[in-house]
Amino acid sequence: ETDPLVLFMPSGRRGRFARGTSLIAAARSLGVHVESVCGGRGICGRCQVEIVEGAFAKHQIVSAADHLSPVSATEIRYAEKRVLKPGRRLSCATSIEGDLVVDLPSDMAVNTAVVRKAVDTRVFPRDPAIRLLLVEVPEPDMHAPLGDLDRVFAALESDWGLARPTVEHSILPLLQKALREGPWQVTCAIAHDHEEDRPHLMAIYPGLKNEAYGIAVDIGSTTIALSLSSLLSGATIAATGAPNPQIRFGEDLMSRVSYVMMNPGGRAEMTRAVRETVQAMIETVATEANVSTGDIMDCVFVGNPVMHHLFLGIDPTELGQAPFALALSGALALPAADLDLSLHPVARAYLLPCIAGHVGADAAAATLSEGPHRQDEMMLLVDVGTNAEIVLGNRHRLLAASSPTGPAFEGAEISCGQRAAPGAIERVRIDPVTLEPRFKVIGIDIWSDDPGFAEAAAALGVTGICGSGIVEVVAELFLTGIVTEDGVIDGSLAARSPRIVQSGRTFAYVLHETPQRTLTILQTDIRAIQLAKAALYAGIKLLIDRFSQPGGPAVQIDRIALAGAFGSFIEPRYAMVLGLVPDCDLERCQAVGNAAGAGARMALLNRAYRREIEATVSRIEKIETALEPAFQDHFVAAMAFPNKRDAFPSLAL
Ligand code: FES
Repeated sequence: ETDPLVLFMPSGRRGRFARGTSLIAAARSLGVHVESVCGGRGICGRCQVEIVEGAFAKHQIVSAADHLSPVSATEIRYAEKRVLKPGRRLSCATSIEGDLVVDLPSDMAVNTAVVRKAVDTRVFPRDPAIRLLLVEVPEPDMHAPLGDLDRVFAALESDWGLARPTVEHSILPLLQKALREGPWQVTCAIAHDHEEDRPHLMAIYPGLKNEAYGIAVDIGSTTIALSLSSLLSGATIAATGAPNPQIRFGEDLMSRVSYVMMNPGGRAEMTRAVRETVQAMIETVATEANVSTGDIMDCVFVGNPVMHHLFLGIDPTELGQAPFALALSGALALPAADLDLSLHPVARAYLLPCIAGHVGADAAAATLSEGPHRQDEMMLLVDVGTNAEIVLGNRHRLLAASSPTGPAFEGAEISCGQRAAPGAIERVRIDPVTLEPRFKVIGIDIWSDDPGFAEAAAALGVTGICGSGIVEVVAELFLTGIVTEDGVIDGSLAARSPRIVQSGRTFAYVLHETPQRTLTILQTDIRAIQLAKAALYAGIKLLIDRFSQPGGPAVQIDRIALAGAFGSFIEPRYAMVLGLVPDCDLERCQAVGNAAGAGARMALLNRAYRREIEATVSRIEKIETALEPAFQDHFVAAMAFPNKRDAFPSLAL
């Protein structure tokens, strides 16, 4: 008779096991990671599984109640103290007696999904730097006078195979009480970021402690994005965003650096502002998720170099001028309390490495998330903000640079530009025959030519045009011939459409007109977009040049990932029509959302990703765009739509 077949969902892994094999052991032998805080003692409940009834067609497996060992005393004890939902079993206390389909419930899942709006859902393995381990400690013995702490060490070693940890000294006074309260059962919080380091005993709790959380934070110059995840399940349980309070000291990075240079105490003011906001955001997500901030034990931060330095309390002045020297480029681990964050008293913080003086830990995190270094295909990763960060390459070689695009793509420097907020135009289409526009406004679900729009617009107010709207309107103006390849609004069309009007010595396009407000695209607006996109494209071209064989053909890009807030809203086709990015199969040019935030979350939930990005960043070749003589030449060619020199066969214009 053959051994029973067991299938684990959702991973689909399966294997045959001898009757009587415990489910948790079977799962682990297949590489299906089942969490455990208690080491299989039936206490923590982290190892819960669900037995899916009925046949699992493709694999011919039929689960039945008697294919499992009967509910054990351990499970009954567990269910008396805590909840064990119907159909759930503790895999450490259950053994295989027949064919089974076993489901790891999503609230117990140890693989976490990085969910990104409308882009994709990915699953990655979880192995956080901080773990909770329950141990049973022998009672003290007068004849073998080994100290309480020493017996905890011995239990950690025998139950979990853990090498003798270093100890957070502040817990020593609490240790004896915790052990006796347990009684003789304590949960140890073990921090073990680097495999080569000794583990560190950072906290000790009487009995079972079944909750530990971490936060991942992307400190952008404009917006701070923060998420709260369970270190035990890997699930992201709450997230929030807030404007960076440093905006009041300067809109863009350079003005914040000059604020520090001009104002004594300016650096400290900005550091305090951002740390306070992060703390307030932590409290917001903790309240929302009903989590105590004292249970937050680990944090990961990413940001561009200026944000990274200011958050750490480092003067960013050196980043404002050549050679753009970073105070530190490597990854950094430090106590969260040193960042004025009040979480668990000895919570840890980790900052991803910076790539170069202009290419920060945010670009490193985006790289970690999108993974150009894991694949053979040539990938271009662009994070567009006031400074565009660019990474190009594959598993064999990676290059990085930044380009000074300025704030035009965020709606600044545009006459009717504004931030993406209710009332801003975000989508635009122009009829090629009538030259009439239709558009969509943030906060109104319908297009401007749909019935009911006028009333909705009157109620909300159409106040301006945001970054994605500007890119679309300029691209549509170009596609309909209103704007020439050189970026000039064609005044001869004024005879054909009342939308095209004279404005000083140039022409303008009237996008929206109400008695209160007229939104017009001016020649200077087109110019601002040309300058911004030419800077971005020229930076990308420098990387392509560097990658290609001298004198040989330029490398072909297989995939483009547009990251960042801007990248998430812009339609890739329009980015290509304007020539922000080089030609690439349109299907493979994608907006990937907040890739930096996703990368930060990966580093939070799996310490191996920290090592991976540290190793990757150390081999990225950095290119300083400002110092490259070819930059100007590429810039001039890139002023045209889409480009004077380069072809865009994928667009079929
Ligand atoms: Fe803790 Fe099963 S491993 S209850």
